[in-house]
Amino acid sequence: MKKRFYFGTNTKMYKTIKDTVEFVKSLQEATKDISREKITLFVIPSYTTLKDANETKDEELLMIGAQNMGWEEQGQFTGEISPLMLQEVGTDLVMIGHSERRHVLGETDEEENKKVLCALRHDFTTLLCVGETEEEKEYGISAETIRIQLKKGLYGVTKEMTKKLWVAYEPVWAIGVNGKPATKEYAEEIHIVIKETLKELFGEEGTEIPVLYGGSVNPENAVGLSKMEHIDGLFIGRSAWNADNFNKIIRDVLQESR
Ligand code: 13P
Repeated sequence: MKKRFYFGTNTKMYKTIKDTVEFVKSLQEATKDISREKITLFVIPSYTTLKDANETKDEELLMIGAQNMGWEEQGQFTGEISPLMLQEVGTDLVMIGHSERRHVLGETDEEENKKVLCALRHDFTTLLCVGETEEEKEYGISAETIRIQLKKGLYGVTKEMTKKLWVAYEPVWAIGVNGKPATKEYAEEIHIVIKETLKELFGEEGTEIPVLYGGSVNPENAVGLSKMEHIDGLFIGRSAWNADNFNKIIRDVLQESR
């Protein structure tokens, strides 16, 4: 039985302010009876919704995260949002290096590293996403790719800083409308690589870092994935954007796997 399971959703460039507030309210209402000793629940909506989402959240029930963050407190970075701005609107968590940031918007491991360090220094729970492309999987270098993303992305992070660090494994080929979900066995194999790398980097502290799986998680595969020993949570897109559907996945997982 796992001590705590993580459930989160990234709403990408969908939901407006009104949609997000309704979603947060419904999700809190639907899940309020579930003990937060058992689960951590988070929603990562778009920047413009953060103020309202944070005002709507019940801190006992839900964390709100940002989808990205600039790595300086201020400066000549047109279009970027700084850690101070995210703090100002009450944001708990920052996601760094989502597959779409890396592969659609062209971010590099070096940039992710600057953002991770900045987010941790500003005391945000920091969710670093890693994942290999279809091509890298085909070449048989998934493990190597993930290890490089972790070692570069977490360069300079100290053991003390890992208390607020989370990692998500999101294979690029598994994400979104054209994605096909990783099998639970494959996801487990890569989660073992991630956990070994985190231990290598941070010793025993590294074993405490939650590692979540994301990429076409749906009502059919959620329970199977959640039962894998090295999967500590599910990071969901499309299947969680309706609060009732998300609530059902959470309850199925809790009922079936513990
Ligand atoms: P999907 O669940 O829609 O594949 O998206 C996953 C994701 O990108 C979460 O960050």
